[in-house]
Amino acid sequence: MYALEMMSITKEFPGVKALDNVSFKVKKGEIHSLCGENGAGKSTLMKVLSGLYPAGTYSGEIRIDGKTMNFRNITDAEQAGISIIHQELALVKDMTVGENIFLGREPKRFGSIQWDQLYAETRKWLQAVGLDVHPETKVHSLGIGQQQLVEIAKALSKNTRILILDEPTAALTESEVEILMNLLQDLRKKGVACIYISHKMPEVFFLSDSITILRDGQSIATLDREEANEDRVIALMVGRELTERYPYVKHTPKEVVLEVKNYTVWNKDKPGMKVNENINFKLRKGEILGIAGLMGAGRSELVMSLFGAYEGKAEGEVCIDGQKVKINSVRSAIQAGLALVTEDRKRLGLVLGMDVKTNTTLASLPTISKFGVMNNNEEIKWSAKYAKELKTKTASLETRVGSLSGGNQQKVVLAKWLMAKPKILILDEPTRGIDVGAKYEIYNLMNRLVEDGVAIIMISSELPEVLGMSDRILVMNEGKFVKELKREEANQENIMQAATGGK
Ligand SMILES: Nc1ncnc2c1ncn2[C@@H]1O[C@H](COP(=O)(O)OP(=O)(O)OP(=O)(O)O)[C@@H](O)[C@H]1O
Ligand SMILES: [Mg+2]
Repeated sequence: MYALEMMSITKEFPGVKALDNVSFKVKKGEIHSLCGENGAGKSTLMKVLSGLYPAGTYSGEIRIDGKTMNFRNITDAEQAGISIIHQELALVKDMTVGENIFLGREPKRFGSIQWDQLYAETRKWLQAVGLDVHPETKVHSLGIGQQQLVEIAKALSKNTRILILDEPTAALTESEVEILMNLLQDLRKKGVACIYISHKMPEVFFLSDSITILRDGQSIATLDREEANEDRVIALMVGRELTERYPYVKHTPKEVVLEVKNYTVWNKDKPGMKVNENINFKLRKGEILGIAGLMGAGRSELVMSLFGAYEGKAEGEVCIDGQKVKINSVRSAIQAGLALVTEDRKRLGLVLGMDVKTNTTLASLPTISKFGVMNNNEEIKWSAKYAKELKTKTASLETRVGSLSGGNQQKVVLAKWLMAKPKILILDEPTRGIDVGAKYEIYNLMNRLVEDGVAIIMISSELPEVLGMSDRILVMNEGKFVKELKREEANQENIMQAATGGK
């Protein structure tokens, strides 16, 4: 008996057939992964299921426990036991944890909210997900991982029978991922069906009982755990064999372009606390310097601070091309030749209301202008070039970036900075949320930039990526660089050992 059957689902947007006759069935109490390239239709299928796209805006049939459903809205779907945790978190930042969990369902007596009861129940659900925060904490003061767990607590509190997680671990720390994995396995035992969307193959294989692959809006195959392996799933996703994952080419590093001396950064919220201490390193033209470390080690704070985008105080010396520079704003960083692609594409990356071509060329206006006047043809030419190279899936270059799939938004951020051809390109988790095929294209572009003399710093929590693409690796632990490894001597073990504070 299936908990869920989605049959012949077709969903169109202007100019895009996002789902084309998709069939998707999930058994009771199984963890079922949904895999596919960026723009394959995963999130759209789940939005159909969760009532966000109501009956009538798509064709096909949804059955829950064998019964046909016609959801008019999210509430209908919730009443049928479906909860979704979206790719982009959707909590109300200015409300407390408890208010968020019970939003619209506050326990009431004689018309007034029973706050004691609300917070008591909140405590219970927070405990269930292993999140140790006060129920009255405002959501904006939580980390992304903690917010994710609040979303899950919220889903659990609604007596969910089908839980949908759309790339839940993209921003979680290792220990948060572990909590989540355990939680999902507990839920499976309780008979909850779970639909898991992720580009991280190890997680998919660790968790799944079944795997369904979408490609270009079509359901390509459903495999049992036993018959699936990484290569097979990837081949079904991209429609071809992908023999090599990391197209590394040996670079020849040249002169030092960036030197950081005795650099210390203080926490923006707790000014007495250091997030980075006594950082010293050099970066050469034509090299890829990988920065490894656990999430929360202080890698992002360091590069944000170097880029003039971190609010905490910083002290130390930064030299570019041998000249001492003072970078205290993003503008001065860009002028000094720096570019930063962050993990948080909304804050430093994209203007979601503007279209693909505008976003792509935003940091390269001189390239597409003549005598200070922007040339539309140039704008189109350049943005088309990058959309093609990165295989960005978009209906047109005039499409609003906000309507692209998550991974394709990330590609536009990358295109913007790749096009700007900075002296120093800092990539913070550049391939997070990006499918395997597109990752490969990004690595190729990185190689080409490095050959053109750009220096790249790449922060990544995916060790295979750091090992696969770096010429040299620095490992950070608790805000300090604790080890430097040449490409040849680095491996998972010695990086992890250094990253976790081992000797
Ligand atoms: N609201 C929308 N308006 C127009 N087009 C849309 C909208 N939402 C999605 N699309 C398009 O539908 C297709 C499928 O997008 P979807 O978000 O489902 O992909 P996805 O598989 O979740 O990808 P990712 O791995 O990048 O998150 C894409 O081509 C996307 O641009
Ligand atoms: Mg998606």
